[in-house]
Formats: sequence, C-alpha cells, structure tokens
Amino acid sequence: MTTVLENTSAQEDTLLAPMPLRPLGNLGWNASLFTIGGVKWDTQRTDAEAVQLLLRAYELGVNTFDTAHAYGGGESERKLGLALEEGGIRSKVWVNTKVIDRTYDGAKRQIETSLQRLRTDYVDLMFVHSLDTEEQRQQIMAPDSVLKAIEEYRAAGHIRHVGVSGHWVKHVMRRILGEYDFEAVLFPVGLFNIAYNYSFLEEVLPFARERGMAVLGMKVFGAGRVKVARSIEPYLRYSLNLPIDTAVIGVDSIAQLEQNLRLVKGDLPPLTQEEIAALLPEAREITQAWDEGEFDFVQHYLEAEKSG
Ligand SMILES: NC(=O)c1ccc[n+]([C@@H]2O[C@H](COP(=O)([O-])OP(=O)(O)OC[C@H]3O[C@@H](n4cnc5c(N)ncnc54)[C@H](OP(=O)(O)O)[C@@H]3O)[C@@H](O)[C@H]2O)c1
Repeated sequence: MTTVLENTSAQEDTLLAPMPLRPLGNLGWNASLFTIGGVKWDTQRTDAEAVQLLLRAYELGVNTFDTAHAYGGGESERKLGLALEEGGIRSKVWVNTKVIDRTYDGAKRQIETSLQRLRTDYVDLMFVHSLDTEEQRQQIMAPDSVLKAIEEYRAAGHIRHVGVSGHWVKHVMRRILGEYDFEAVLFPVGLFNIAYNYSFLEEVLPFARERGMAVLGMKVFGAGRVKVARSIEPYLRYSLNLPIDTAVIGVDSIAQLEQNLRLVKGDLPPLTQEEIAALLPEAREITQAWDEGEFDFVQHYLEAEKSG
C-alpha cells in the first residue's frame, strides 16, 4: 500500500515538474518540448472540454499550440481561440496555424478566417500546410501564390514567421527548403516512420538545421498507432531525443495529456540501437495492420521511396 501511495505521489511530482524547453530555431521562443497538437480534441470534445484540456496543458507548462485552418472543419482553431480568450493566455503562448489553399486569394481568405477563429490579430508561425507532391511544390512556388499572401500578412504584423509542413515526400520537402526562406519546418519524426523505412531524418533534418530553421516533429505516436503498442514510452524516448525543437503531439483527453507529460518531464534517455531494433517489428506489425486509409498512406511512403 505504501508503495502505491509513494508511486502516485512521485508521478504527481513528475507531472508538476518544470517543462523541458528548447529554443525554436532562431525565432526567439523557448518552446515546450511538448507542443499540443490540434486534432482529435477538436471534433471529439465539446467546447468546454476542449478549453479545459488546452488550459490544463498550459497549466502544466505547455506553451506552444499547433492548429490549422483545415483541422476539424475549423473546430480546432475555433476551440483554441476560445481557450486563448477564456484563459487570457494569448500573449503568453506561441500559436502555429496552417494555410492549405495554394492561391493568393484563397490563402488570404483562409488567413482572415483563421485570425477570426483564433480571436487574435497575429499568429506566431504560419505553415504552408501539407506539401506532399511535386505539383503542390510548383503551386506554392508560383508567382502570386499562398506565399505572397503570407508575406503581405507578415509585413502587416498578422503573421510573425513562416514555415512549411509535409508528411510523405522528403525529396520535395528538401527541394522547397532550398528554394524559399522558410523559418520553420514540420515533418514526421516517429519510430513508426523508421519502421517502414522512409524517414526525413537523414536529409531534411540536417538541411533544415544548416539553414538555421526551427524543426518541429510530428507522428511521434504514428497518428495514434501507439494505442496498440505494448507501451507508449519508447516511442516518446525515440522522438524526444532527436535534434528537434519540439514535438507536436495529438491528444484527445486530459488523461492522455497527463500521461504524456509525466514522460516528457521525466528526462527520458535515448533508445539504444538494440532497443530500436527490438521495437521495429512491433512498429511494422502495427503499421501494416492499420485500417485501410492509413495503409494507403504507408503505400504512398513506400512508392515515394522507390521513385524518390
Ligand atoms: N502539418 C500537418 O500537415 C499535420 C498533419 C498531421 C498532424 N499534424 C499535427 O500534429 C499533431 C499530431 O498528429 P499526428 O498525426 O502526428 O499524431 P500523433 O501525435 O502521432 O498521435 C496522436 C494520437 O496518439 C494517441 N495518443 C496520444 N497520447 C496517447 C496516450 N498517452 N496513450 C495512448 N494513445 C495516445 C491519440 O490517439 P486517439 O485520439 O486515437 O486516442 C492521439 O490522437 C496534430 O494534432 C496536428 O497538430 C500536422
């Protein structure tokens, strides 16, 4: 009995321990190692529950929030806006959002809507969302594209920094980073990605670092695949010890948030090569047993690698 009580109190201490912070590239912000992602709670939680979750994250030291125009048909930005206002925390946190329209006019409309939903007149980091094909790269790099809209809003003070995010095609990401002066990049850094042998870590990450960009990681939990893993811990240990500035992680409840933060604050040691090798079969098996939509996603990875 005593042991149980001691463990509970030790866990509570870890939850309340200081949040590890890392500089977000050269952007002048010390980001919480855990950035709270913008999906799952956006559609699965009521307004009140979402606000409670987001403010609990803030209370536990999360100072960086990630959302997108497209998430939850606007619910993610809207609910984050409610939390920023109700908690009075807008000036104390860093907010990323993303614009997915590739055209100048369409992007301007999305940016306006995002600012309204977020109940703010500026976002700290605006990502060009989901660069995943060569065709998209060309649309983004064309004259009068989304980038022109972002530049105008940045000049007017409504956007502080510009980044790009992508999930699947690393050579396209590598190329656009050399073509435009993005200040931040968001890409998958999970062990599930390593398991299907397609990773941004060897080429994109060092290139972004050489260019002084902020590096944000996602897919730490394989977009939820971790739920059927033996433990979430090694997946966090793997990604959090990579040279990234912050990990954008999705949660759908306060229980998940707190479980993750206990580990994030627990100063987890890196996985050894042997531990990584021992986990890959599980990660591969889970990935291949995933539902059809996600399996298509894996196929996309494998095909991109062959042609890449
Ligand atoms: N830029 C982009 O293009 C892009 C794309 C995708 C995502 N993102 C960002 O990245 C964030 C994370 O998304 P992701 O796709 O990379 O997902 P992820 O963080 O790899 O996985 C998140 C999911 O893992 C599960 N999970 C979290 N904590 C857990 C715990 N303690 N125990 C068991 N399961 C747990 C939850 O699944 P269930 O909800 O199923 O329980 C959660 O939704 C998003 O919220 C979003 O902000 C960006």
